[in-house]
Amino acid sequence: MEMTDSNAAAPESSPDTILDGSRFVRACLRKPVDRTPVWFLRQAGRYMQEYRDVRKHHTLVEICKQPELAAEVTITAAEKLGVDAAIIFADLLLPLEPMGLPFEFQAGEGPVVHHPVRTAEDVRALKTDRAIELAYVARAIEKVAAHFRERLGIIGFCGAPYTLASYMIEGGGSRNYIHTKQMMYGDTTAWRMLLDKLVAVLTEYCRLQVQAGADVIQIFDSWVGSLSLADYRDYAFEASKRLVRAVQQMGVPVIYFGVETAGLLSEMASTGADVMGLDWRQPLDDGWRAVGHTHAVQGNLDPITLFAPLELLEQRVKEILRAAGGRPGHIFNLGHGIVPETPVENVQAVVKMVREFRREEAARG
Ligand code: CP3
Repeated sequence: MEMTDSNAAAPESSPDTILDGSRFVRACLRKPVDRTPVWFLRQAGRYMQEYRDVRKHHTLVEICKQPELAAEVTITAAEKLGVDAAIIFADLLLPLEPMGLPFEFQAGEGPVVHHPVRTAEDVRALKTDRAIELAYVARAIEKVAAHFRERLGIIGFCGAPYTLASYMIEGGGSRNYIHTKQMMYGDTTAWRMLLDKLVAVLTEYCRLQVQAGADVIQIFDSWVGSLSLADYRDYAFEASKRLVRAVQQMGVPVIYFGVETAGLLSEMASTGADVMGLDWRQPLDDGWRAVGHTHAVQGNLDPITLFAPLELLEQRVKEILRAAGGRPGHIFNLGHGIVPETPVENVQAVVKMVREFRREEAARG
């Protein structure tokens, strides 16, 4: 696997010869590109007929565990949209199983963990030596990499320690994260042991993905917005930072994404992540300023704008591209995942708008 050290000199290829895959990776490293790369959070999923057809015959977890199916779903979505990167089809919660916490997806309720972690004893019982059981994700990445070669960037992913800990402790989604914060504040030793165990497993899980051909790793801290800045600093930052650095040591850039993070961005960027994912609540230029221009940014269209008339959609897409100001290091994306009712043709229209943007702006003088 080619090393993509952020400090290495940029191999200068002419903009015309930039392949879609390297366009995405170059942007992660803030190297100049011919046009802004684009992909979408949750680009493979229920809004696509092809995915619903596969889902008719298999559960979500079955798709994840069968490399042939996971690769097919990943490839179909990326090709149908014409994006610059493919995110491997998997789920955030898969590492819970080899840690000894079985879960299932219940229709209409999302994920349910059967025996949530509530005590120091529960934390001690969690296993950290079975990450290899997640190798099915690596096998799927190998298939996607063999299919796309250099044409598309391949994104592996995992959850951030805080977000995964919150699923383990709450037993599913949560509104107020009361159990999570009770352990965090009330038994800080158990909390830190839990995050340490997660960092150990997630590091090995990411290593499997990188060795299989992932060009970039995205770390989803989806629920980090439930923390105040002080609590993020005291209880979540350090574990995320360790994971970010460990993945970078493997030679790939890291994207660090969370939701409702406007007040946390600068601290989150101190993990050293190459790219910060911005949610849609804040103008992209404000978010980039908060992150610092020493990082790349990814985002940040409101996914529900995909239901707007094309004219408004185009206006919002261009506002984001203009806010990026042509500075190297912008990857166009949504500010959170595509929802199941989204019209596919509007997602395809956004790809076209992003692809044509620079030429159009340049022509306008
Ligand atoms: O293209 C892709 O992005 C698909 C791969 C992917 C899935 N989950 C498949 C999936 C990715 C990157 C995820 C990440 C994930 N999973 C996150 C972080 C992303 C975010 O939105 O911040 C989270 C929080 C989860 C946990 C999870 N998985 C929940 C809460 C749910 C249920 C919600 C729902 O919409 O029903 C899932 C299920 C899930 N994971 C689906 C998909 C395509 C939909 C369910 C299905 O097919 O039955």
